Amino acid sequence: MFSSRIPADLAPNALARALEAIRARGGEVLDLTETNPTRAGLTAPPELLAPLARPASLVYEPHPFGLPAAREAVAATYQASGLAVSAAHVVLTSSTSEAYSFLFKLLCDPGDEVLVPVPSYPLFDHLTRLDGVVPRTYPLEYYGSWSVDLEALERSVGPRARAILVVSPNNPTGSVLRRGDLDRLAALAASKGLAVVGDEVFADYPLEPAADGCRVLAQTRALTFSLGGLSKSVGLPQLKLAWIAAGGPPRLLDAALARLEVVADAYLSVSTPVQQAAGLLLAAGQAVHRAIAERVRRNLARLREVSAPSPCTVLRVEGGWSAVLRVPATRPEETIVLDLLRQDGVLVHPGYFFDFPREAFLVLSLLPPPASFDEGVSRLIARLSLGC
Ligand SMILES: Cc1ncc(COP(=O)(O)O)c(C=O)c1O
Repeated sequence: MFSSRIPADLAPNALARALEAIRARGGEVLDLTETNPTRAGLTAPPELLAPLARPASLVYEPHPFGLPAAREAVAATYQASGLAVSAAHVVLTSSTSEAYSFLFKLLCDPGDEVLVPVPSYPLFDHLTRLDGVVPRTYPLEYYGSWSVDLEALERSVGPRARAILVVSPNNPTGSVLRRGDLDRLAALAASKGLAVVGDEVFADYPLEPAADGCRVLAQTRALTFSLGGLSKSVGLPQLKLAWIAAGGPPRLLDAALARLEVVADAYLSVSTPVQQAAGLLLAAGQAVHRAIAERVRRNLARLREVSAPSPCTVLRVEGGWSAVLRVPATRPEETIVLDLLRQDGVLVHPGYFFDFPREAFLVLSLLPPPASFDEGVSRLIARLSLGC
């Protein structure tokens, strides 16, 4: 009866089952996978949500791409980064996930392919499948820092490829797209008639930025979409406001926007209050952004300090909210994370959740409150230093 867009196996994985069992017994868990900024012990300014109650929000005036003032406010964030983005090329959505869905509808017929990086954002499997699109992977490689394997990417482009997806800073590797890689990737996209989709939700969280790091809209050779949203830029995922900023060769861009309007007009999914408040939220939310940026830096420094004398290595992280720890591959990742949870009450993600090509890597969120982060990291490093 049901479509194959939904996975046949809906059973929770071994880590989720173990976590549920511990919580059911009332056990305490130090959760180093927490990426919800509203559960990270950060305090938002009390008046932050006041703009949502503006009287203008009592009027419903649907605009497929969103209210002009909100789109101006989003365009201004790109302009502040030196990118010439016009409000006319900004499309509001309720989440980045919805932005992906709009773009898959714009670019792909069922069975068409998009190129996705690995290791990367685990939701790609679901997001593509839910829109009837097939993900084809291309590798990121680590030699002291991460870079795109461009030859492998080129080999993955088949006749049904429609877009190259890039996540920068990437989740979980924290790697940022390099200017040289962007130029080659955009040249490939332009020559093969593909779009570039850049997920830049973590763009405002640089950690160890590379000198030649860049944003996808720094070129206009290929039809390009940059995705962002309040959920990461100002740590307000509950407000459900995200966006697509488009760029590229003018005729192609106009054709894309005309079609994207049909998609956006069918859903009109962004609420009026959040659109009316967008400019003020982006400004006042800077207080939350600063608190998150400080937290992430602090926790990364701590992780490095505690792991330095151990057999574990923190990989270079250029931006974002997560860190990757390479640990001795004495046992399978799954055994390592299950033991950490059961014996030490510490929850981390195994690298294979993110399709790391080999073992053993652990992925840690840098967002948890310092007290639980420090305790969790100390237990984790102590356990892994024992070699079991
Ligand atoms: C790379 C990446 N893109 C998008 C999102 C989700 O953004 P949104 O809440 O706007 O759907 C996440 C969430 O963790 C993410 O890691």
